Amino acid sequence: MNKSDLENFGFLKIPLPKNINLAEEISKLKKEKNAVILGHFYIEDNLQDISDFVGDSLQLSQQAAKTNADIIVFLGVHFMAETAKILSPQKKVIIPDLKAGCSLADSCNAKDFKKFIDDNPGHTVISYVNTTAEIKALTDIIVTSSNAKEIVESLPLDEKIIFGPDKNLGNYINSITGRKMLLWDGACHVHKQFNLEAILRLKKENPDAKIIAHPECEKPVLIVSEHIGSTASLLKFTQKDNSKKYIVATESGILHQMKKASPDKIFIPAPGLDSTCGCNDCNFMKLNTIEKLYNCLKYELPEITVEENIRVKAEKSIKRMLEISEKLGL
Ligand code: 13P
Ligand code: SF4
Repeated sequence: MNKSDLENFGFLKIPLPKNINLAEEISKLKKEKNAVILGHFYIEDNLQDISDFVGDSLQLSQQAAKTNADIIVFLGVHFMAETAKILSPQKKVIIPDLKAGCSLADSCNAKDFKKFIDDNPGHTVISYVNTTAEIKALTDIIVTSSNAKEIVESLPLDEKIIFGPDKNLGNYINSITGRKMLLWDGACHVHKQFNLEAILRLKKENPDAKIIAHPECEKPVLIVSEHIGSTASLLKFTQKDNSKKYIVATESGILHQMKKASPDKIFIPAPGLDSTCGCNDCNFMKLNTIEKLYNCLKYELPEITVEENIRVKAEKSIKRMLEISEKLGL
C-alpha cells in the first residue's frame, strides 16, 4: 500500500496483524527506524509506560529540540507535535491521530488574533504554547505553564503585553506578577469544568487532603488551591510535600505518574460539574491508543507538516522561550 492509498483509505482502519504483542512490535519498529516516542502526562497509562520520555509541554519541546532520532512520534495533541516539527524541521514528526486537537488552541484563530494585535499596537505578544503554528508566527515569545511567570517577569515592568489565548492562565499570571496584560478570551474545556462547590465538599470529606490545580482552571478553583502549577510542577509538589492526600484539579492522566512516584499517597481527581461525564479526561489526548501508535510507527503516518514561512516565524517565538528558560535554569 502506498502513502496516498493509506491516506485515502484512512490508515487508522487498517486491521492489525493477529497475535502480535503490540508493545514488543512498537519497541522493535522504534529501534529499526531510530524513532523516539515523546508522551504527555495526559495520555493513557499504558502509553505513558511505552514512551521514551514523558513530560509537560516545556519538557517535551526541550526534548524535541535536542533529540538525535530520525522520527519523533508524538503522543499528545496536535499543537505539541507541531511544536516539535517547528523545532526539528529535518525530522519526520508523526502523531497517531490527526484529530487530536485542543479546545484551547481552537479558541484562538489567526485572523481574529491578528486583529486583536493590530487593534492594540505597541504590545509585546506572549502566547501560551497551546496554539497553532499560525498564532505562534504572530507571537514574540511563547510560554508554557512551567515558565509563564518567569518569562513575563523577565520583561521590563512598563512593557505592554498581550497574552493569549488562555484567559485563566493570563489572569493568574497578572495576579501573581502585578502586570496588567491584555488577555485573549480563550479557555480549555477540561479545566474550566472543575466545580468549586464540589471540590469544597470533597475537601470537607477529606480535610487532610491538599487541593492542587493547573493554572488553566478558573479563578475560584485556584483561590482554594494550595499549589498551582504545570503538570510537571504538580507532580514534583506531590513528591516533595509531606501530605498523604491530594485533590488534583487537572486532567486525570497525571495521576498515573503521581501514583508511580508516591505509591503510599492518595490522589483524588477533582470533581467537575457532572460527576458521570468523564469530563476530567481530555478527549483529544485520549484519542491516542496503542493500536494507532503501532500503525503510525509502521506506516510513518500521519505526518505533521508546517508551511515553511510560518515555521520560520513560529520557530523564533519558541526559541525565545527556550533561550530564556535555559538562562533562568527552568
Ligand atoms: P502542561 O504544560 O502543564 O503539561 O499543560 C499542557 C496542557 O495542555 C494543559 O492542559
Ligand atoms: Fe488542550 Fe485542554 Fe486537552 Fe490540554 S487538556 S490538550 S488545554 S483541550
